[in-house]
This record gives sequence, structure tokens and C-alpha cells, in this order.
Amino acid sequence: MNISTVSAPGKLMLLGEHAVVYGRPCIVTAIDQRIHVEIERTENTTLVIEAPDVDIAGYEKSIETLGSGNIPKGAMFVEYAVQKFYAKYPCVGGVRVSVSSAFSSQIGFGSSSASTVCVIRALAEIYGKKLLAKQIFAIAHQAVLEIQGSGSGFDVAAALYGGTLYFVAGGKTVEPLKVSNIPLVVGYTGVKADTSGLLGEVAKKMKEQPEKVTRIYDAIAKLVNDAKTKMIEGDWERVGKLMDFNQDYLRDLGVSSQKLESLIVAAKQAGAWGAKLSGAGGGDCMIALAADDKRKAIESAIESAGGQVIHISSSSQGVRVDA
Ligand code: MEV
Repeated sequence: MNISTVSAPGKLMLLGEHAVVYGRPCIVTAIDQRIHVEIERTENTTLVIEAPDVDIAGYEKSIETLGSGNIPKGAMFVEYAVQKFYAKYPCVGGVRVSVSSAFSSQIGFGSSSASTVCVIRALAEIYGKKLLAKQIFAIAHQAVLEIQGSGSGFDVAAALYGGTLYFVAGGKTVEPLKVSNIPLVVGYTGVKADTSGLLGEVAKKMKEQPEKVTRIYDAIAKLVNDAKTKMIEGDWERVGKLMDFNQDYLRDLGVSSQKLESLIVAAKQAGAWGAKLSGAGGGDCMIALAADDKRKAIESAIESAGGQVIHISSSSQGVRVDA
């Protein structure tokens, strides 16, 4: 096969961010907005990337030098994914990779991890390698870790497996949860989260106040485990309450922001069962859980507070070969 088209979903962290980097569980859902990657085999020994959404046009590099020198930000994840794949499964020839996204890379839906997973899945397809999901996870997570320095891999797992997952760092546990469509409302702050900066600040806090931060993480782990049970039961009111507790701990950890807080307060005052930030904090999106008859009022409240409502549905299919 010379050409393959693959897509993978974006994600939303539901509960357990930050704590998951320190060995606790989290719950993540894959959303119905996808990244699309087409890979074509070429006779050359180069990688060519076209990714107009992140300002990459006609970027070309020899396969031997992948991962070295100056790499533009928009090409980084694709280049590392190709490099890791070729290092593990030596292949003849080069590839042309085209990436397009249904969502902006600015909102924290995990476009980098999803494109990394797509690239590895598409390479396996064109080179006829039958890789297990675990093997794809290992290469993709390694690529993401080399670029970002730290991260639990929950976003890689969501792109790969899809659905709603109970996840422990590094893929030690990846448990699909049988949940019906999650009644989520999503509000975007308009601010890009500085994930590595926030991870650094939290790591510093862990060094300075290990007992306090450990206590917070243990409490988050407990509420994530409770939420897992309640989600399976469909008790969204209780899951909302647990989201509120999770937000209290994240605020204590210092990763919330004024904008996030104002969207969260707006959603709660308009009748949400619960609301919290989603992801690293500092920006990106907040999420709320809401009964159908409250959804409209909550969406208006988020917009009046300066947020942008994004309509998504949860538990979407993981990476798939589309053509
Ligand atoms: C960032 O979206 C979520 C964090 O938990 C980091 C990670 O799990 O890789 C803060």
C-alpha cells in the first residue's frame, strides 16, 4: 500500500489532571472532533510535511537527520513520530505527510498527541506492520515525552483507544468505561494553556510542600475512583459534585485562573451539576455537567462571562484507518 488516510479524536480531561502525572488515575473522554493524517510513500529518502493549520507548508528533511537541528513547532510531533517509527521498524524510502484538523491547536483538545498517533498508525498501514495498540502507545508516548519532557500519556491513550477511559500514567491501566453520552458543556477561555510551564510550577510546589501536594493528589485519586463508579451508574449529579471538589483541589494547587473561575461560577449559577477546568489549567477549556433542560441557560451564562461554547460529543472512536 502506498497511501493511507487515518484519523484520531481529540480529548477532554474529565477528572484527575496533574495528579495523574504523579501516579494517580484520571478519567478522559475522546471527542467527536478529529485530526486527519494522510501519508504517502515516496521514492525519496525524505520526510515532507504539509500542515497548513499550524503554518507548515512544504517542510522537507532527510530521514537520517530527523529529530535534529531546528524543527518548526508545527512539524515537531509529526517529525518525532516518523523518526521513532523508522528507528524501531527500519523502512525503505520516504514519506509525504499531510495533516488537517477539525479543531484549533490552541484550545487544548490534544492535537499534538492525536497527530502523533495518526502518523504511527498510518506508517504501520503503508509498511504492512501489524502493531498492537500497546506498541503504538509506546512509540507515540515516547515521541511526546521527548518533546514535552513530561506528561502522563492520557491524551495519547484517548487518541488511540477512544471512548471514555480510566487511565493511570504511562498506560499502566487503560480501562474503557461503559458510559452513556456524557452531558458535557464546554467553555473555551480564549487563552492558550502553558502546559509545560504549569507542570514545572506544580513540580516545584511538590518539592517545596510535598506533604500538602501529596495530600491533594491522594484526595483527587479518591474522587476519581468515586466518579468512575458514579459515571457507570449514570449518576451525573454526583459526578458534578465530584468535579466541584476536583476544582477546589486544582485551585489549591494554583493552576486555575480568573477567567476559568468566572466561566465555572457562571455555569454553576445557571444550574450546572458541577464544573471545573479541564487539562493543565491557566486557560484552555472548562467543562460542566448539566441536565438537558439547563443546557441552554448554562451556555448563555458561559458566553456572557466571556467564554466560547464548543459543542462536542464524548466517547468517540479511537484512531481508525479511513482509507
Ligand atoms: C494536561 O492536559 C494534563 C496534565 O495532567 C498533564 C498530563 O497528564 O500529561 C496536567
